Amino acid sequence: MSTICCIIGTRPEAIKMAPVILKLKECGLSCFVLATGQHTDLLTQALRTFNITPDRDLSIMRERQSLDYITSAVLTKAGEALDDVKPKVVLVHGDTTTTFASALASFYRKIPVGHVEAGLRSGNLYLPFPEEANRIMVDKLATFWFAPTEIAKNNLLKEGCDPSRIWVTGNTVVDALMMVKGLKGEPEFLKEKLPPHVPLLLVTVHRRESWGKPLESVCEALIEILKSFPRLWIIIPMHKNPLVREIWQRYLSDIPNVILCDALEYDDFVWIMNRSTLILTDSGGIQEEAATLKKPVLILRDVTERPEALSEGTALLAGRESSKIVELALRVLLDDDFRERLLSKSSSPFGEGRAAETIVDILMQYLNANEHCLGE
Ligand code: UD1
Ligand code: UDP
Repeated sequence: MSTICCIIGTRPEAIKMAPVILKLKECGLSCFVLATGQHTDLLTQALRTFNITPDRDLSIMRERQSLDYITSAVLTKAGEALDDVKPKVVLVHGDTTTTFASALASFYRKIPVGHVEAGLRSGNLYLPFPEEANRIMVDKLATFWFAPTEIAKNNLLKEGCDPSRIWVTGNTVVDALMMVKGLKGEPEFLKEKLPPHVPLLLVTVHRRESWGKPLESVCEALIEILKSFPRLWIIIPMHKNPLVREIWQRYLSDIPNVILCDALEYDDFVWIMNRSTLILTDSGGIQEEAATLKKPVLILRDVTERPEALSEGTALLAGRESSKIVELALRVLLDDDFRERLLSKSSSPFGEGRAAETIVDILMQYLNANEHCLGE
């Protein structure tokens, strides 16, 4: 039977590829899950929520790893694994270094690559860095483009991708969210720390361009926000990256009303997103989840590759300057009309939760029709 190899390396790839992996298995297709191990704990934690165990783990992660190292380690080791597994199709997700290096290893073997979440563009090669470049390079190498939205599809068309192999599927993160939403109640650790009914701000920051000064500005902004709104509580599930954790802890570990905790299981994190009054983040996936949950979100970046979150969703672009973040956060928290207007815009720009089903249907049809000529 033709094997489809799903290659994942980091937390968001695990969460967003999980619905596709589960659907491939449910449909009786042979699915090989290859983890590069670009992330260790964060990847395992995300997969645990969906009861997925990788068929092979390349375990490449190092403390404070460089982009050169991740790229070369994944290229070599994923290439060796592909030589063993000999899949008919490789699926990669998004824009990480795992995504790019795995797509390249597949291309070197003339194995067709399906890109899940294809076509996102910020228009600036350095924002986010290196993800914007990764997306463009993966889309150059791909055979099937699974675009989450019409805007993503149009980006691919403008770059000359073959329209007969682009599909607008919705984003698989909506599928993942729907699988876990409502499954669990309040996490035990939070019951002990968070008083009932208080307003809650959820904050995550992890991107390379946020390391150092921009993250320090976010910390300063949070301190200012608390001064103006002392009833507020803040929760920060910290990314494993030591460069990020050091700054959170230096600025915020002694501030009352701030809960610094480790990265959370996906189902607990979804519960907290749903409980929060406002979300501040530089994450890509959380912009999509906030729109789906209809939660206000300030994007802590200068540009976003997800313009639908601004035009149709619940997001505002706050940048990385402390004063702008404070101003916008307080407006959303304290100005009821402003918040209502933001929330009234919300449709579901990232799909209805059937992206995985659509992707698997397309792959099945394509494999049936082209069993003998793919990749030639
Ligand atoms: C990576 C992706 C980014 C994605 C993010 C999701 C690249 C270039 N970046 O960024 O697009 O948004 O994952 O979280 O691919 N670490 C651990 N344990 C873990 C994970 C990370 O200790 O489970 C630490 C290690 O010291 C590691 C560092 O975090 O060296 C950075 O990890 P890395 O994968 O290079 O970058 P991220 O910032 O996680
Ligand atoms: N997430 C999680 N636990 C956490 C923080 C985030 O499960 O403590 C989930 C979140 O819901 C989203 C994904 O991780 O689905 C986003 O990952 P991240 O912000 O690391 O990457 P990005 O989306 O920016 O690439």
